[in-house]
Amino acid sequence: MTFKGAVLCICRLHLESFFTAQLTFQTSSKQMNSQHKNMPAFANQQTYDLFAPEALVNSYPLYKRMREEDPVHYCESLGYWILTRYRDVEAALRDERLSVDRTALYINQLGNLDVKQIQNFLHLVSKMMVEKDPPDHTQLRKLANQGFTTRALESWRSIIQNTTDQLLDNVQNHGCMNVVSDLSIPLPTLILTQIFGVPETDRANFIKWAMDISTFFGVLGSSNIEEFARKADLAAAQFSALIRQLVEERRRQPGTDMISLLTVAYEEQGFNLEELPSQCIMILNAGLLTTTDQISNGVNALLRHPDQLQKHKKNPTLINSAVEEIIRFDTSVPFFFRIAKQDLTIGGKNITAGSVIALGLGAANHDPQKFDSPEVFDITRSPNEHLGFGSGIHFCLGAVLARMELTICLATLLRRLPNLSFALDKQAIPTKHTSLIFKGFDSLPVKF
Ligand code: HEM
Repeated sequence: MTFKGAVLCICRLHLESFFTAQLTFQTSSKQMNSQHKNMPAFANQQTYDLFAPEALVNSYPLYKRMREEDPVHYCESLGYWILTRYRDVEAALRDERLSVDRTALYINQLGNLDVKQIQNFLHLVSKMMVEKDPPDHTQLRKLANQGFTTRALESWRSIIQNTTDQLLDNVQNHGCMNVVSDLSIPLPTLILTQIFGVPETDRANFIKWAMDISTFFGVLGSSNIEEFARKADLAAAQFSALIRQLVEERRRQPGTDMISLLTVAYEEQGFNLEELPSQCIMILNAGLLTTTDQISNGVNALLRHPDQLQKHKKNPTLINSAVEEIIRFDTSVPFFFRIAKQDLTIGGKNITAGSVIALGLGAANHDPQKFDSPEVFDITRSPNEHLGFGSGIHFCLGAVLARMELTICLATLLRRLPNLSFALDKQAIPTKHTSLIFKGFDSLPVKF
């Protein structure tokens, strides 16, 4: 498969590595909870269907109802707690009594299969920083920061600009495009493979491996579990081998790419280079679907608010605050998960050790206790302390890069295609949610 072919083949679900790990909670959390006997003692009569068709189109009215009626809600069907108030979500993101280590959940979804079948996959995931609590997380984060130096970030600016321009060149004369397949999927993929210095000949493989690893993360009690496990394990081995080979090359001849920067940092600080593939693969996957979805959510929000588009047209420097408002108004990561390490109380509810807690970042971003008129999309909003990138020690490592991608992509789009509007004969289709983690579009046809 060519690289272009591979990029076009990217299916949302397949891109969901790292973040899609969270999908497993839907099945595993129930099993974990019953195993740990940590279901709350009371039966909550109120139900909120986060997967109802109207909630998929617009989740915010449901979040509002939850926040007002039961802000710390135990969802029996999903088997986890859901927080929807800003203050609870922010506190939970910083709460040391909550863990990010979800390895047991991945093993859990194997069911009766031998855990050896995913040993490469588990090895890869178990070294990922995003699965680590302090002190391991602290060390890994310091190392990972070395890949995101100011100098590196500045060098990425031209990569992002050139890639955006190339993608728009492809459609400029057509008068129409699909924002998702023509722009928001290929852009982060092409940017990240360049930033990591993945040779062009390896890019197609790179996408396939990312897909196979992600598919296993995303399996929901599927009967194909063995097949998914086999592919994921092979992909983990092959992907790691490629990164190991690149690390070896960059050790001999360092460049300015992310793998070179991380290799130097690991060597200087005496860390085991064997663990580097996990870090690289985590960063790569964390930066893909999140950004893809945020671009489509952003274009959708702007086109639905012509007054705000006008404001931007009059004053293009508003693009930075517009990007912050886009992330607040319709974040691509509406939930993130934690596991209670001990019994604790949130909002007067007793939560037992082992419980899974869904932190409603999207709901928190619409909390009127924090934001004036939260349902209003206002590209001049200030202050705008949204939780779209999380908070605390796991605050998004790629936030600066993500902001840069969004700013350059959206500014270029609006400058080059000033008459951008929805293609009314075709419908924008919100993502078919299989997970609470993601919010985006499968398709967003526009004309210009
Ligand atoms: C709009 C796009 C993005 C959004 C909305 C987003 C959102 C988030 C959120 C909410 C977290 C916190 C997770 C937690 O608390 O457990 C996070 C963590 C992370 N993000 Fe992003 N992200 C985006 C783009 C990126 C990019 C482009 C990269 C890198 C290329 C990246 C790399 C990471 C990493 C490595 C972590 C884990 C940090 C840690 O565990 O210390 N993200 N992101």
